[in-house]
Amino acid sequence: MSRILTGIQSSGKPHLGNLLGAIIPAIKLSQDSNNESFFFIADLHSLTTIKDADVRKDNVNAVAAAWLAFGFDTDKNLFYRQSMVPQVTELNWYMSCFTPFPMLANAHSFKDKSDRLADVNAGLFTYPVLMACDIILYDADIVPVGKDQKQHLEMTRDIASGFNHRYGDVFVLPEARIDEQIMTIPGTDGQKMSKSYGNTIDIFQTDKKLRKNVMQIITDSTPMEEPKNPDDCNVYNIYKLLASDEQVAEMRKNYEGGNYGYGHAKQALYELIVEKYSKERELYNHYMENIDELHKKLEKGEEKAAEIATKTLKRVRKVLGF
Ligand code: ADP
Ligand code: TRP
Repeated sequence: MSRILTGIQSSGKPHLGNLLGAIIPAIKLSQDSNNESFFFIADLHSLTTIKDADVRKDNVNAVAAAWLAFGFDTDKNLFYRQSMVPQVTELNWYMSCFTPFPMLANAHSFKDKSDRLADVNAGLFTYPVLMACDIILYDADIVPVGKDQKQHLEMTRDIASGFNHRYGDVFVLPEARIDEQIMTIPGTDGQKMSKSYGNTIDIFQTDKKLRKNVMQIITDSTPMEEPKNPDDCNVYNIYKLLASDEQVAEMRKNYEGGNYGYGHAKQALYELIVEKYSKERELYNHYMENIDELHKKLEKGEEKAAEIATKTLKRVRKVLGF
C-alpha cells in the first residue's frame, strides 16, 4: 500500500485546465486500491499571497466542492484543509532550523521574484519548508506534482534526509511522481489555460455565463462559407479534449466542409460541456449551497490527519529533546 499525498492550491475556482490536467487524473490515481491518498487544500500557503479572509474561505470551499463533485471518495481517502491540522506549523519551525539559507535562496519560486524583493514576504521565502513539512508529517511515499514542483520535492528529500542522517530514521523520504504525459489544456486565447492569463473556462458557472465564456474563445475571421482548418482553431482544440471520437470526427468534417461558422462550433462545445458535466455541475452547486455538509467531509479527514501528525511530531520532539 503506497501513501500518495498532494497539496492543492486554493487560489480560486478550478477551471477546465485544472480539472483535466490535475483533478481528474489525481482522482483516478486515488481509485487504485493499492493506494491510500492524502489530498489537502494548501490554504496556509495561500496566505503568502491572499490576505482577504472572505476570498480565502470562498476559494477553499470552491476547490473542495470541485474535488467532491468530480468524485473524490472521502471514505477511502483523506481530504483536509492544511490549516485545520496546525501540527504542520510546529514541524515547520523545527525543520526551518535545519534548512540552509542558500537552499531557499536557490528555489525557483523565490528566484523568480528576487528582482522585486520588497514584495517578497518571509512566508514566500520559506514556502518550500512548509511544503516539505506537509509531506514528511504524514510519512508520504509518493507525491504527484507538476514539473514546476520538482525542485520543491528535491528540497523536501534533502531536508528530511539531513535530519535523518543526524537523528536516525525519523522521516520517510518521499518520491516525486511527475507525469510528463499530462497535456497542457489551451485557454480561450490558445495559450496555456491559466488564471494568470485570464483565459480560463469555468464550467461551474451558470449556463448563461458559461455560454458567454465559451463564446469568448478567440477565432480568426474566415467567413462562414469557407472551409476551415480545425487544427488551427482554439474551439476545436478544446472540443476534442472532451468529445467522443465520433463527435470529433463530425466536427472536423464540418470545419473542412465549409458553411460551418465558429459560432456553430462554440455552441456545440457549450452544449457538450453542459451535457458531459451535468452531474458534476449540479453536485458542485449542491456543496456550495450546503457548506456544512462540505465541511463535515473535510472534518472527517482532518481528524484522521491530526492523529497521524501528532504521532510524527512526538517522534520529532523526542529526538530534539523537547
Ligand atoms: P493556474 O495556472 O490557473 O494558476 P495552478 O497553477 O493553480 O493553475 O494549477 C493547479 C493545477 O492544475 C496544477 O497541477 C497544474 O499543473 C494544473 N493545470 C493548471 N493549468 C493547466 C492547464 N492549462 N493544462 C493542464 N494542467 C493545468
Ligand atoms: N506548492 C504546491 C503547488 O503550488 C502545493 C503544495 C503545497 C503541495 N504543499 C504541498 C504539493 C505538498 C504537494 C505536496 O502546486
